[in-house]
Amino acid sequence: MKIKKICCIGAGYVGGPTMAVIALKCPDINVTVVDLNKERIAAWNGPLANLPIYEPGLAEVVAEARGRNLFFSTEVDKAIEEAEMIFMAVNTPTKTKGEGAGMAADLRYVEACAKNIAQVAKTDKVVIEKSTLPVRTAEKIKEIFDREGKGVHFEILSNPEFLAEGTAIQDLFKSDRVLIGGDETESGQKAVQALVDIYANWIPKEKILTTNVWSSELAKLASNAMLAQRISSINSLSALCEKTGANIDELSKAIGMDHRIGPKFLKASVGFGGSCFQKDILNLVYLCRHYGLDEVAEYWHQVIKINDYQKERFAQKIIDHFGGDLTGKTIAILGWAFKANTNDSRESPAIYIAEKLFKAGAILEIFDPMVSPKIIWNDIKNYWKVEKETDFKAKIYISETISDATNKSDGVTLLTEWEEFKKIAFLEKAVFDGRNLLKNREINYVGI
Ligand code: UDX
Ligand code: UDX
Repeated sequence: MKIKKICCIGAGYVGGPTMAVIALKCPDINVTVVDLNKERIAAWNGPLANLPIYEPGLAEVVAEARGRNLFFSTEVDKAIEEAEMIFMAVNTPTKTKGEGAGMAADLRYVEACAKNIAQVAKTDKVVIEKSTLPVRTAEKIKEIFDREGKGVHFEILSNPEFLAEGTAIQDLFKSDRVLIGGDETESGQKAVQALVDIYANWIPKEKILTTNVWSSELAKLASNAMLAQRISSINSLSALCEKTGANIDELSKAIGMDHRIGPKFLKASVGFGGSCFQKDILNLVYLCRHYGLDEVAEYWHQVIKINDYQKERFAQKIIDHFGGDLTGKTIAILGWAFKANTNDSRESPAIYIAEKLFKAGAILEIFDPMVSPKIIWNDIKNYWKVEKETDFKAKIYISETISDATNKSDGVTLLTEWEEFKKIAFLEKAVFDGRNLLKNREINYVGI
């Protein structure tokens, strides 16, 4: 099977960069990325400086492939009809209503996508789960194809994306591994091979791992859970360090030098954020409970609980520093993104910390080099339970520079590991370093 046309549904953080790289590396395959969001597609087709997603190196990739064999469109049906291979990269948020609310993944968009594909497809298709999904989702998708399809054959593969934001392009160019799960039937194996052939254009063969569908689906959840578990482990130890006089950075270095453990993902912080870790672990916990594995569920749930504890603990330290009340105090919030080199603020610890400080009476001066004021205001509106907008508009300011944010403030919090924050010196100001960024620590320094 030689693929000539690919369609990807969902032009987000996963779909956009992944398809851009496939198009770049496979010039003889036409790649069309579709999305229901017209504004997003317009931005993908607009000036390179304003692509909807900021990722180092992304603009260069789009510049080369866009218009050649990479297209962005809102014509979903047309792209489905024409493609032999369809990636589903729509979002799978945590359910907010119904059975499993607050834990299970909301598969509404994935199911809508599958229905759309089934109804439109007039020729056989390979359909690929790119979104992170609970194990055995392929079964549900197959049911939709069987029920809604027009007699054509659908082969479902799982090909989870392991890219991390901020390094997406590098991660796609040099993936640690590409995982492809497929059915052990003849048609399943043919579809797997067709996808292997695409990646083999730039990924060494030994890094392309093929498995059954269930292993592939679960491997994504398990990988994210294990990465997050390392962060919660080191963060839990940071609390013990503070009681005992041990230094968490020194501890982390000492532990990480054991080659069996390794140094990565051992940086203590104000807590992990991002669209994946919390959502995927909650999903894993829900799955374990569903299968009656309560002890296993509780084990993984603890990773989230420690993360919540860490955010809470950090915010409380700031409040305690000012005697339990922040009324009349101005606090600079430096960093709104959930990590450096991205404009993404989903589940960012900053949203939570800022809320807690605000509710303890603080006036906030927020600065982030990449997250737009529009997104910051939206986060505040959507995630803080504030009665009236006027309650916060007069007490929250979004600054354009670091110094604007810090000049008048009584305390400064560092919540994202942006490089530029490492260089600033704060004299005689209380500094709350949620990322252990500063080397020259002043008298009023409070780290994690
Ligand atoms: C998301 C999840 O966060 C991640 O866990 C999963 O692995 C892949 O999907 P991301 O790309 O970051 O990743 O999501 P998002 O930026 O929200 O993009 C999803 C896009 O799908 C949005 O642009 C949305 O408009 C689009 N969409 C959603 C459709 O085009 N059709 C739909 O029916 C639903
Ligand atoms: C993660 C996974 O790394 C990626 O493989 C998967 O595809 C999606 O989820 P991402 O959320 O983009 O990627 O970022 P990641 O670099 O993993 O960081 C997640 C959070 O953990 C950030 O808030 C980061 O600041 C924090 N973190 C990371 C720490 O607090 N300490 C660390 O040592 C590492």
